[in-house]
Amino acid sequence: MFTVRYIEEIDSTNSELKRQAMKGAPSGAVLVARRQTAGRGRMGRQFFSPADAGLYMSVLFRPVSLTDAGLLTTFTAVAVARVLSSHGVDVGIKWVNDIVADGKKVCGILAESGIHKGQPFAIVGIGVNCNETAFPEELSEIAVSLEQLTGRTWDSRALAEELLAALDEVCPQDPKDPQALMNEYRERSVTVGKQVRVHPHGGEPYDGYAVSITDEGGLVIRTPDDGEHTVTSGEVSVRVQ
Ligand code: BTN
Repeated sequence: MFTVRYIEEIDSTNSELKRQAMKGAPSGAVLVARRQTAGRGRMGRQFFSPADAGLYMSVLFRPVSLTDAGLLTTFTAVAVARVLSSHGVDVGIKWVNDIVADGKKVCGILAESGIHKGQPFAIVGIGVNCNETAFPEELSEIAVSLEQLTGRTWDSRALAEELLAALDEVCPQDPKDPQALMNEYRERSVTVGKQVRVHPHGGEPYDGYAVSITDEGGLVIRTPDDGEHTVTSGEVSVRVQ
């Protein structure tokens, strides 16, 4: 189902695959780079992407229903968590799509969508910190690598293949049993049941309690005035209690 191309260097595998999608690249096209010069994360952030240290991979899904595009990342997070857990790494999913271990991010997922000849497509980018032995100062408190977690070197190509096999099984664009995947996502969540701080896009942060995750992947927050609402975008940080 996937056709993988390995390249040395690119600005961002998501950007390049999007360019290819706009020229008609087929569903299942995958791009893996040794290094990104302008790796991107959510909320306009950079994604630290030095040569050989991490896995930088993007996958093209087409066509997709734009309403379900958000769930692509949710289900991709389940696939990534399954693979890392199968290697004995104790990971959880921090809403919405960070894979964390020891309270730090080991993998980020960035989904982007576009339209080509009237057909929506989605690019899901997966960045795994594999063999970093140290991070820049601004990341050292929030990022961790598989090498730091396990004390051994990881083969990023082998990991890419395992992740693609897991994605094939989950089939995030058209899962056989989305309800079971949502339940697995909930079970793997490290956000539900915690006091959190919500950072809305361009709005003031506020505190609340993460009650549950809806079938659409939204995070239900109870605020101190006992109001409940669902967060569908922005960022949520788990508060140390
Ligand atoms: C995040 O943590 O906010 C998401 C990070 C996603 C990083 C991956 S690396 C491969 C792909 N290409 C990018 O530029 N970003 C994604």
